[in-house]
Amino acid sequence: MSQSYPSSASHPIVVVGGGVIGLSIAWRLVRRGESVVILERDTVGQSASRAAAGMLAAAAEVGFEEPELYDLCRASLQEWPGFAAELESESGAALDYRSFGTLVVADDRDAAEALRRGYRFQKEQGYPVTWLDGAEALEVEPMLSPRIVAAVSVPEDHAVDNRALTQALATAVRQGGGVIREGVNVIGMDADPPTPIVQFVNPATGETEQIEASRIVVAAGAWTSALSGWPSGNGPSIRPVKGQILELKTRAPFDLRHVVRGPHAYLVPRSDGRLIVGATSEEMGFDGRMTVGGVYAVMDGAWEIVPGILDQDLLSIDVGFRPASVDHQPIIGFTSNPRIFIATGHYRHGIVLSVITALAAERMLVDEEIEPRVAAFAPDRF
Ligand code: GLY
Repeated sequence: MSQSYPSSASHPIVVVGGGVIGLSIAWRLVRRGESVVILERDTVGQSASRAAAGMLAAAAEVGFEEPELYDLCRASLQEWPGFAAELESESGAALDYRSFGTLVVADDRDAAEALRRGYRFQKEQGYPVTWLDGAEALEVEPMLSPRIVAAVSVPEDHAVDNRALTQALATAVRQGGGVIREGVNVIGMDADPPTPIVQFVNPATGETEQIEASRIVVAAGAWTSALSGWPSGNGPSIRPVKGQILELKTRAPFDLRHVVRGPHAYLVPRSDGRLIVGATSEEMGFDGRMTVGGVYAVMDGAWEIVPGILDQDLLSIDVGFRPASVDHQPIIGFTSNPRIFIATGHYRHGIVLSVITALAAERMLVDEEIEPRVAAFAPDRF
């Protein structure tokens, strides 16, 4: 039996997905007085939003063959401090925003050559990066392995506690009057009737229900392609790229002063002594298993660059599914139906790009303006 969610004279904007992208957009919308309902299949902030390290890292994460994505990440980075301060003040929660910079390190000649190529590109683009030899790297970051032969220091790449971030966003959305429905499996949408609808399975009854929307924001991450009702018949092709990530508790004298990224692993310290170490990148579909091989691969890559981690406490292992589009770049903008906005495919960059994505959505949905900074990532590029 199909039921209708109670409708009101003015329908809410329905956001499909309560990960970092859906939550960030929803927060910006409720701040502007919009009525917003988030439909989340799990609880908010899971999968790729949780199994992340919170690197706000344009230089350390983006390939140098992706200049537009690089610029988008940098544009988002510039907005991050203001966004974080505002969110902390509204939610009352600390995000552990850290501006101590990233060291991208190489532990052999091949890795140093790859690092050098990226560094030259970054210099050509005018990015503030500094080349360090092994001894210089060890001087600024004593926890590094003496095997490190070179490093690039990226002061503008910062970090945030992504789990604190999604919880703060959920708090701010609720405080702003937004509704978050968890455990709700959205199956499709229909934007053609006079009032667009989103169909979902009510977890309490198992019944299919629908909610009327003024507009629909699809921020369903790796689950985007499972939705039906796309304007052109086919939705964007998004595949899950599995990541396994570890959370450690460090003990003195271990004290990492930077985010460190090596050829096979990265390490992101939190101010409370936790250390996030990631991550595998596996083409396994929605395989949610935590595997010995995954833990081994991450630890092997990490101890090569920061050997002191072997003596730390293992707190948890998480699995997430990065949403990857065909070109590994995000999809942000209106579909051919102006009542369906899409924000997905953020792949490895969801935390850093959440801010620019949310600001773009706010501008395009509320102010009805063009946002030039996301123009290269429009859905119609496929
Ligand atoms: N951004 C970190 C990762 O995708 O592993």
